[in-house]
Amino acid sequence: MNRILPSIQKTIVLSGIIVFVAACSQKTAPASKVEKPYDGPKVTYNEHIAPLMERSCSPCHYPSKNGRKQPFDTYTSVKERHDDILYRVQLPSNNFRHMPYMNENPSLTAEEIQMLKNWAHGGFLES
Ligand code: HEC
Repeated sequence: MNRILPSIQKTIVLSGIIVFVAACSQKTAPASKVEKPYDGPKVTYNEHIAPLMERSCSPCHYPSKNGRKQPFDTYTSVKERHDDILYRVQLPSNNFRHMPYMNENPSLTAEEIQMLKNWAHGGFLES
């Protein structure tokens, strides 16, 4: 058999086996990784996020109120820094990077933090 099978054919058979083994070992994504469509409460920038930001983050982040920090007074500015905002408001209130800065305004409640997360999960609706 070995003598009759030309080496080119052996090579083809061998590469076939390698491809087959490689294909079998490919991991399929676990079912839990499949994204479910968001079915939580509807959160919009105009109705929920803007009033929350204004209450907690002004005047410092509101140029119109003479705030000199990173502006968070528009839909785009809040959406673009969403990760950073979420990180800051979840720091312990005795952490010097916690926002609102130096606890000058009340910290966000657990419900408000969840609302910020839901805003992202729902696709950052504006209105
Ligand atoms: C009393 C003024 C004040 C208030 C109110 C305030 N901040 Fe700030 N913020 C600051 C200061 C001062 C800095 C710069 C110091 C720092 O980065 O920790 C800052 C920085 C930040 C940064 C980092 C900006 C950058 O350019 O990297 C984020 C994000 C932020 N604040 C989010 C918030 C959010 C969200 C709120 C409301 C929940 C808030 N801040 C309320 C004063 C304030």
